[in-house]
Amino acid sequence: MQENISRLRAEIEAYDLSTPELLDQFRIAYTGRKGQLADLFDQLKTVPQEQRRAVGQELNQLKQQALARFEERQQELESATRNAPADPTFDYTLPAVPNQLGTRHPLNLVREEIVRILSRIGFNVAEGPEIEDDWHNFTALNFPENHPARDMQDTFFVHRTPGEPEWLLRTHTSPVQVRVMQTQKPPIRSIMPGRVYRNEAISARAHMMFHQVEALFVDENVSFADLKQTVYYFVQELFGSDVQVRFRPSFFPFTEPSAEIDITCLICKGKGCNICKYTGWVEIGGCGMVDPAVLEQSGIDPERYSGYAWGMGIERITMLKYQIKDLRLFTENDLRFLRQFEAVQ
Ligand code: DAH
Repeated sequence: MQENISRLRAEIEAYDLSTPELLDQFRIAYTGRKGQLADLFDQLKTVPQEQRRAVGQELNQLKQQALARFEERQQELESATRNAPADPTFDYTLPAVPNQLGTRHPLNLVREEIVRILSRIGFNVAEGPEIEDDWHNFTALNFPENHPARDMQDTFFVHRTPGEPEWLLRTHTSPVQVRVMQTQKPPIRSIMPGRVYRNEAISARAHMMFHQVEALFVDENVSFADLKQTVYYFVQELFGSDVQVRFRPSFFPFTEPSAEIDITCLICKGKGCNICKYTGWVEIGGCGMVDPAVLEQSGIDPERYSGYAWGMGIERITMLKYQIKDLRLFTENDLRFLRQFEAVQ
């Protein structure tokens, strides 16, 4: 045993530690859990009882010595790499390698463009909660209690106990109109982009979660002509001046009169294709004059003020603008899809 300790001491003192690799070998061979020192500690039990203490102490000392040598050398090597002179062959005039930050999501690009276009003519942005109460989502918007119109929008209810207020995931951005009118005085010119939810099976054309942008204009003497001109301006700024708009009479409980907004199909340029079902037109949203009852329920005097509103699907607009044929692409996070859009600067 004594001999082994002396031999090991001599080896440890003489070991060449000039490189990080040798230092690592040293650690494995001597101080590591399967190293030679650990072997000697294991053999300690074979040493006669009366010598065991002294041999044990000697072994411990040797271990400390080995560890000290290891740590000292490790620090020396580390500071040597830190203070190493710069590589003389490195060309400092090379342009930097650009940092790839990814791309912007197409729905964000389009939402921001919509906000930009409408803020130029005086609309500001308002927001409301995604978990909404039944009153804002339906009642204040003239959907009568227990009226089948509520089934038009397959609702996800969050909390539904008879006799208590109902909570739901908003089925459209129209409740934000009510919230804006409750808290602001006319003139009101707001757009309300946001996420909405409907209990629909997910397919290429439908999703249980999508986005809308609502617009609301309330002032004295607001007319349907104002609505039409604003929609013309908006569509031409967004899609280009060769795109046509048509208003189709429709029904919404919260507007009177109501219309649906169609634009000429951007895929076939009006000639007819399967996206526009061979009509040459695609619907992008609904609109109308805010029903006086809705104004009144939201705290605006319908004798003095009138207003128009619209709601459009951001996915629909994005699909038309970029010719995307499957709604599911927006939420699948497939990099081959996402990388085709504008890079983050
Ligand atoms: N909220 C309607 C929907 O989700 C869209 C809509 C229609 C919004 C007419 C409006 C409007 O503001 O005036 O189907």
